[in-house]
Amino acid sequence: MLSWEEFNHEEKPAAAVKPPISELPPEPAPESSAPEPRTVAETPLELDAATRSSNDDALEQAIRDLEDLDVSAGLRELEGTASRVAVDDKRMINCRADLNQLVPFKYDWAWQKYLDGCANHWMPQEINMNADIALWKNPTGLTADERLIVKRNLGFFSTADSLVANNLVLAIYRLITNPECRQYILRQAFEEAIHTHAYQYCIESLGMDEGEIFNMYHEVPSVAKKASWGLMYTQALSDPQFRTGAVTSDQELLKNLIAFYCCLEGIFFYCGFTQILSMGRRNKMTGTSEQFQYILRDESMHLNFGIDMINQIKLENPHLWTEAMREEATQMILQATQLEIEYARDTMPRGILGMNAAMMEEYLQFIANRRLVQIGLKEQFRGVGNPFPWMSEIMDLRKEKNFFETRVIEYQTGGALSWD
Ligand SMILES: [Fe+2]
Ligand SMILES: [Fe+2]
Repeated sequence: MLSWEEFNHEEKPAAAVKPPISELPPEPAPESSAPEPRTVAETPLELDAATRSSNDDALEQAIRDLEDLDVSAGLRELEGTASRVAVDDKRMINCRADLNQLVPFKYDWAWQKYLDGCANHWMPQEINMNADIALWKNPTGLTADERLIVKRNLGFFSTADSLVANNLVLAIYRLITNPECRQYILRQAFEEAIHTHAYQYCIESLGMDEGEIFNMYHEVPSVAKKASWGLMYTQALSDPQFRTGAVTSDQELLKNLIAFYCCLEGIFFYCGFTQILSMGRRNKMTGTSEQFQYILRDESMHLNFGIDMINQIKLENPHLWTEAMREEATQMILQATQLEIEYARDTMPRGILGMNAAMMEEYLQFIANRRLVQIGLKEQFRGVGNPFPWMSEIMDLRKEKNFFETRVIEYQTGGALSWD
């Protein structure tokens, strides 16, 4: 764990750190003949009469406006009705109950995930990147194929997490009409910002060409296809005029959730995570790999939350889950799997790190089968197994509980207020 001073040092190179004001040399005297500004100590405590009178007027006006405030008009602007909420009033979408009342909880799973997410809090600067920097700068430290994997994945993920965050706050947040789910969505949005920070931290530490990496989602076809496939599902919902409440618009929202949770976070991340973590298992790029390990833990919780939301919406609105909708959801998962297989072939032209594109294809089909079953659809790939069982172990938070217990305590201590 780095100390606070070390954090500051990492964030701001010594030359850029400003000394405290008390240590600054005196400012040179101004050349003009204007009177010198008074210091705080010289400013009289009493305001002059003209200033006091204008402040009094402003205060009186503010009080008059408050007396005229129409409280009920303000409450009418709130989402949902403004009466006390009962558990049975709560619904995932199209809810009429007041969305500002967090309790009573209806969806305990959403609140629990919010608590779990907070307990697993981490920041990218805590991870030591020195070994990665030395390896990356050593011309013979990594093969060309290994460098391709690192660059492609930082290129894809550095913008993919922004797409996910934008979808959360600009598209789905206002359409999910449940406060405990919104609470988790806010936590998730912050985690996505941390993930983007982590990728940026790796890119900066390794001294990569930032323009090249951050533009891969425009310029490299296997990256661009995945990004534009996801964006396609954000477009309609991010229109402020978009409303749920009709079968087609409710189904649009469901498709967005399937695209982002099951496909983007549930399939598009898996080739890259496996490649980078496999590198770490071989003692290469261990800092980058550790960053990805933390991110993967967060992502597996995002995925589980998304699946719970999708299934809850289906449960409350069975009329949305038509045969055509099921067929379309299956097609979406198959498309995403195909795009990820193309990404695997592009990033692994040859066998590398004990894996190759064919093994990754089987892994992705195995993952796709899981995603299908998780939202109540039929498996589409027969006889496929998991060639990378170690990935499941890394994702399982409970298996490394001790690790998190130490971190949680550190955060609780750091954030505690003392009233003594
Ligand atoms: Fe993320
Ligand atoms: Fe995520």
